Amino acid sequence: MEDINKKLIEKREEAKLGGGQARIDSQHKKGKLTARERITLLLDEGSFQEMGMFVEHRSQDFGLDKQKYPGDGVVTGYGTIHGRPVYVFSQDFTVLGGSLSETYADKICKIMDLALKSQTPVIGLNDSGGARIQEGVVSLAGYADIFYRNTRASGVIPQLSVIMGPCAGGAVYSPALTDFVFMVEDTSYMFVTGPNVVKTVTHEEVTSEDLGGAKAHAEKSGVNHFTSPNDVTVLKEVRDLMTYLPQNWQSLAPHKEKFNFDEKKLENIASILPANNNMPYDIREVIESVIDDETFREVHKDFATNIVVGFARIEGRTIGVVANQPMSLAGVLDIDSSRKGARFVRFCDSFNIPLLTFEDVPGFLPGTDQEWNGIIAHGAKLLYAFSEATVPRVTVITRKAYGGAFDVMNSKNIGADFNFAWPTAEIAVMGAKGAAEIIFRREIAAAEDPAAKLAEKEAEYAEKFANPYRAAERGIIDDVIKPSETRNRLINAFKILENKKEELPGKKHGNIPM
Ligand code: HXC
Repeated sequence: MEDINKKLIEKREEAKLGGGQARIDSQHKKGKLTARERITLLLDEGSFQEMGMFVEHRSQDFGLDKQKYPGDGVVTGYGTIHGRPVYVFSQDFTVLGGSLSETYADKICKIMDLALKSQTPVIGLNDSGGARIQEGVVSLAGYADIFYRNTRASGVIPQLSVIMGPCAGGAVYSPALTDFVFMVEDTSYMFVTGPNVVKTVTHEEVTSEDLGGAKAHAEKSGVNHFTSPNDVTVLKEVRDLMTYLPQNWQSLAPHKEKFNFDEKKLENIASILPANNNMPYDIREVIESVIDDETFREVHKDFATNIVVGFARIEGRTIGVVANQPMSLAGVLDIDSSRKGARFVRFCDSFNIPLLTFEDVPGFLPGTDQEWNGIIAHGAKLLYAFSEATVPRVTVITRKAYGGAFDVMNSKNIGADFNFAWPTAEIAVMGAKGAAEIIFRREIAAAEDPAAKLAEKEAEYAEKFANPYRAAERGIIDDVIKPSETRNRLINAFKILENKKEELPGKKHGNIPM
């Protein structure tokens, strides 16, 4: 028995070495951890249960028969994060560049199937040179098997992707199909075609980092939701995000019994808005003033900064926050902010996370760029996402709620449960100046002093509509509240909505404007 056990121990040790010590050293030299070190940091200590440690590929071509590594380049299994189960796969760059073979794909599919059956989240740690070139089409089929499962699992279990090295070619589509993508600065990149192909086809000279690094995807494409400086910090962030998420579409996010709230924040909240209603302010200050202390986890922080989205807690319960950001482009809705908001709303709705909207929106961004690139269809995404959401939905209008954007931002008439407005709210078809210019055009033109007439008419319109009371009279908002009352009203609103049950009309699936 001793000999038998010794053999097992040796085989395990061999598997743990992946592509060998030299390649592990080279991985460390690049500032990257190994696949196993990453799993150790991601999961609770000692909780990892590995599956398929001895799996090897069956290929014979191009010398692969002589290059076999137990585990075949991906470490798979399950464990816990803060005591809650998760499945995980971690690509091992030390084995043939982490490239994906038929058997490697089978290992990932195996845990994805189990995860779906047991309604347990999946986290993928990506560090791979893509399809294993020597294997050809079976590798491509392996990717397709994974994409198929990503799609089947979408909206059933949370799926997170962490990019910790290369992720190129079609391989990018598995992370793209998952709910959140994390990227590590400097060591990770994602692109469908790399700099060489780009140069050949479009004659553009671009580095890997500029084309598909963490910053490019955080700011330009929006593919990257969270950027982190290194492997250690990114895995901590993943653990932290998991505390806001439920295990699956049928359960609720964990309730934190203990939370702090500094009451002083409410004393200062009214002073966040500037006296001049055309001056910017940071909507994050408003968010922070009403949620449990230090619980805001912003998603997509550097992308479409005119809208802020993220998770927070209110009396220990997870909520999703969507807020116009007056500090960026005056908080207008445009293509990117609509896409960003819509995706976040849909995630929250899929996973029973109540939605809180803060609204200060002057309208949609005008221009040929926006129109020709489809603001109509993209803006409709946000409208659609809010309209179909059946989770508890509460809106607070802090200042401007103009035009179509008023409707889009979780208004009562598209199914929000409660709409509150601060006394500073201006709920109207458009700003007073623009409105006066249109409806009093003739009167202004005929006046002796057109500028004075415009100012008079602007003031008249503002007096009538630049307040929340017209909307309150009609029940379009439920109440006008003092800023300092906001937290209390939100706590009560979400409490009374706790057992909300709403079903969409029977259908195969909706047809969201893509
Ligand atoms: C087989 C691969 C490999 C691959 C890397 N290796 N990529 N083996 N298939 N796709 C091997 C290398 O031969 C090398 O083996 C080891 O992994 C490390 O690679 P290096 O090149 O030394 O590392 P580095 O300099 O860090 O460069 C990493 C890299 C580069 C940028 C990822 O290896 C590279 O460009 N690889 C090819 C990428 C690619 O074109 N993949 C196919 C994309 S198409 P040794 O033995 O020397 O250590 C695709 C389609 C997916 O993925 C389709 C889904 C629909």
